[in-house]
Amino acid sequence: MSVSYKELGLVNTKELFKKALTGGYAVPAYNFNNMEQLQAIITACVECNSPVILQISKGARQYANQTLLRYMVPGAIAMAREMGSNIPIALNLDHGDSFEICKSCIDYGFSNVMIDGSALPYEENIAITKKVVEYAHERDVTVEGELGVLAGIEEHVSSEVSHYTDPKVVEDFVKRTGVDSLAISIGTSHGAYKFKVKPGEPIPPLRFDILEECARRLPGFPIVLHGASSVLQEYVDIINRYGGQLENTAGVPEEQIRKAVSMNVCKVNIDSDGRLVMTAMIRKYLAENPKEFDPRKYLGPAREELKKMYIEKCKLLGSNGKG
Ligand code: G3H
Ligand code: 13P
Ligand code: ZN
Repeated sequence: MSVSYKELGLVNTKELFKKALTGGYAVPAYNFNNMEQLQAIITACVECNSPVILQISKGARQYANQTLLRYMVPGAIAMAREMGSNIPIALNLDHGDSFEICKSCIDYGFSNVMIDGSALPYEENIAITKKVVEYAHERDVTVEGELGVLAGIEEHVSSEVSHYTDPKVVEDFVKRTGVDSLAISIGTSHGAYKFKVKPGEPIPPLRFDILEECARRLPGFPIVLHGASSVLQEYVDIINRYGGQLENTAGVPEEQIRKAVSMNVCKVNIDSDGRLVMTAMIRKYLAENPKEFDPRKYLGPAREELKKMYIEKCKLLGSNGKG
């Protein structure tokens, strides 16, 4: 039995990106794996009146069960509406790696799917992306494709090296596949170790020349930035202060995110910063309250801090007040 995302109160990304492009801001795409993350995302976006794209990765589906996660989404929408908010909410499959998984998510009520064929040879990437687009568009679901490979160390999204997007092929790719948005590789990567820099050394700039050329060749077309966590130092410090061992972390400086947003990037993917906030707050709470064992006691403050961080991200992207 399949269900349309429209019945769930979700929207696809078409209007979201159109407004973001004309308004000069980006829509946040936040990953979630559990109830506390979802609550934090929704309450943050309600509070600052921001549109939002909820994202479910393959790792999330395996961890929390695709069915359960998807059923949590209408609950989250109902919660937002009860709070008196009408913010648009999209549900995206993050880094779909096969036609079957994209189809299953579409049939299950996702409003946008990403088909990540970026590690495939160009023609194969086109073929699989086109197949997903055909199935999705028949159901008014939007599709994100990817060109260029992000280096990263995360499970299921891993590559030793990054291959920057070749701007010369972006028009061909978009035209032949019909994708609604395109993720490009300009030097970011997934996780908390994005750049190999020694402590105190400056983070190298992203390849804004590539982004500029992609935006020039695809006027008015939504570009997506993955691996966009800043790897917030204050939370890395808390983690390390309370027994963690995160060394030489490095993320994308906020001014570079701001610059990307001014250049047709209208979806910004953030997962790692949320992971850091939760871990920092849980470590701190448990260290300071060694007698506590009620998960609500440490998950509650983590969720509260997460909400604050998401609000700051919405402000960074300029999506606050745009719901
Ligand atoms: O794009 C990667 C996301 O951060 C999801 O990672 O597969 O470990 O959930 P994950
Ligand atoms: P970060 O690891 O930088 O948060 O990137 C997340 C992402 O790109 C999800 O698709
Ligand atoms: Zn990603």
